[in-house]
Amino acid sequence: MSVWEAEDFDAEADNNSFGVDVFDHSKKSTEKRGLTPEFTEDDLGLDRSLRPRKLEDYIGQSRVKENLAVLIAAARQRGDTLDHLLFSGPPGLGKTTLSSVVANELGANIKATSGPAIERAGDLAAILTNLEVGDVLFIDEIHRLNRAIEEVLYPAMEDFVLDIVIGKGPAAQSLRLDIPRFTLVGATTRTGLLTGPLRDRFGIAFRLDYYNESELHDIIVRSATILDVEIDRLGALEIARRSRGTPRLANRLLKRVRDFAAVRADNNITIDVAKEALTFFEVDELGLDTMDNKILELLVTTFGGKPVGLNTLANALGEDAESVEDVYEPYLLQQGLIQRTPKGRIATQRAFAHRGVPYDLS
Ligand SMILES: Nc1ncnc2c1ncn2[C@@H]1O[C@H](COP(=O)(O)OP(=O)(O)O)[C@@H](O)[C@H]1O
Ligand SMILES: [Mg+2]
Repeated sequence: MSVWEAEDFDAEADNNSFGVDVFDHSKKSTEKRGLTPEFTEDDLGLDRSLRPRKLEDYIGQSRVKENLAVLIAAARQRGDTLDHLLFSGPPGLGKTTLSSVVANELGANIKATSGPAIERAGDLAAILTNLEVGDVLFIDEIHRLNRAIEEVLYPAMEDFVLDIVIGKGPAAQSLRLDIPRFTLVGATTRTGLLTGPLRDRFGIAFRLDYYNESELHDIIVRSATILDVEIDRLGALEIARRSRGTPRLANRLLKRVRDFAAVRADNNITIDVAKEALTFFEVDELGLDTMDNKILELLVTTFGGKPVGLNTLANALGEDAESVEDVYEPYLLQQGLIQRTPKGRIATQRAFAHRGVPYDLS
């Protein structure tokens, strides 16, 4: 029972037992990056206060929200649990937040853990047998569950039973236990990494998309109100433009700009203050930080626009391939700055323009 203890989602967020490996600084080198959309210690305090609790406070993702509202209302009407739910999308887009919103709207308790935190089948069995009817079980980074543990999850998801093997060898006996009807909410940055059988057992799956500027503006204004800082429309839009479509970054940039404004601008965030602060923190007009620009620089200048394999790129950056693929590339791809081709990653014309290098591949 050590994988999770707290019943209260915010308490979890506080001691971070739901994302055991998000603070594992040894594992990924991306923490070096000031602007990683992944969860950092810096976000802890922020997260608690800024996380929307209700669907109506959750900004953007309107299609997902509309669908969820209907599904939740239907489940409540039937007096039944909601079907198992999978959220996917890049880090910082609101998967964890939305999971707790769903539990809230269902009037259910949420218990949270993560794929890497569940080390043995017994851990999962303990979690499942301790659930109460209607509970939401949130498994973050569900693609990182190991296979043997997944096998335990299948019958639990499908028939709300747990198959337990007692003893070893020929004398082993298997036992089937009923567990309470619950809703599994899984979150993953990469649906592609989920095994087929696991994916198939989710009745509902939503992909979260990057947010547009006006949605990010709304998130920033909402957060500024909670943080009690003055910001005007253009100031908020300036931060929104540089947030890489990601609410977590929007909140983080807001916090930095707020600190800057506290010292230099009388706590008042205007467009000029936002620009000055973000330049100071090395976030450019597209929201790219030094690492993003280093990637573009490599593809544009060092490799001269030729295709570069993922591993070569990762090596050149001193990063692991997984981080490059999960953390850095998605936004660069989405912005049309790089492209994936069968031969490798290439810089687009836009990337050349952004780096101020003439586009001439001859
Ligand atoms: N739709 C949204 N509206 C308002 N704030 C949001 C929204 N989505 C995310 N956030 C903010 O961004 C932060 C990161 O979201 P989180 O759910 O932790 O992302 P993920 O789990 O996808 O990495 C949250 O603390 C929350 O404050
Ligand atoms: Mg999360």
